[in-house]
Amino acid sequence: MSPLIFTHHASAELVESITGQIRGEVANIENHEFPDGESYIRIDHNCSNRDALIIANLHRPNPKILPLIFLCETLRALGIKSITLISPYLPYMRQDIQFKTGEGITSRFFAKLLSTYIDKLITVDPHLHRYDSLDEIYSTPSTVIQAIPNIANWIKTHIEQPLIVGPDSESEQWAALAADIIQCPYIILEKTRLGDKKVRVSSPQASQFKHHIPVLVDDIISTGRTMMKTAEALVKEGLSAPVCIGVHAIFSDDAYEAMKQSEIGEIITCNTVPHHTNQIDISNLLAAEISLYD
Ligand code: R5P
Repeated sequence: MSPLIFTHHASAELVESITGQIRGEVANIENHEFPDGESYIRIDHNCSNRDALIIANLHRPNPKILPLIFLCETLRALGIKSITLISPYLPYMRQDIQFKTGEGITSRFFAKLLSTYIDKLITVDPHLHRYDSLDEIYSTPSTVIQAIPNIANWIKTHIEQPLIVGPDSESEQWAALAADIIQCPYIILEKTRLGDKKVRVSSPQASQFKHHIPVLVDDIISTGRTMMKTAEALVKEGLSAPVCIGVHAIFSDDAYEAMKQSEIGEIITCNTVPHHTNQIDISNLLAAEISLYD
């Protein structure tokens, strides 16, 4: 029997696009908030011995997590066979070390919590910096999808003579792969983060690429400072205002507005987190992965 598909804060466009490419039956969740702020949940569906797919948007996760746990528990109580969580953006990945004594390594706590309730996790480019793989913190099996093939296709069809730029050493994995697919040059800059909104970027090898269009590629745009400082450094070296591509459109506080006022030419993101800059659709990658288990 085909899986039951549930939506948890995911955008209707993404859900429609994924469900249009896979086998499955979209099922409804009845949610209600009581006057005291507590949640009611009901699933009026025969779940017995079915597999569940939950397509979720977990950006700004805290208020979404308890309802997600209630959803998983309700599904289990109704006899569901397995739960696969599709969370294109995986939150709580950046606190992966104790930067100061006494800090909680929240990536571990979050992974432990989610692993209790789901049987499989599918996500897109999680922020793997000091962890080599999600298996280091998630006890549940997971699949990581890379958005780069779709990003590279977008660059190929929209930018003539691109130079792929990774703002820091972590972004080399994406920049190098994109450049390899497009068959164009790439450079990696040196970034030092001095605070949440304070970043320094140097661009030692940029000036030799003055005739290229710089295209910055990174996983997360959060405060936007990484992209803004990188753009500034490139323009100072005589390059044109870059196109900035982020996988996950987090845009904290004033990030988007600040980026619009900066040396950046264009801002493009994938549709892992809903935002009007979403121009690169990754639903085919998710659908292909989901279909493998059909
Ligand atoms: C850093 O480790 C990440 O790959 C991104 O470069 C970073 O999260 C971007 O953050 P922000 O937009 O706040 O500079």
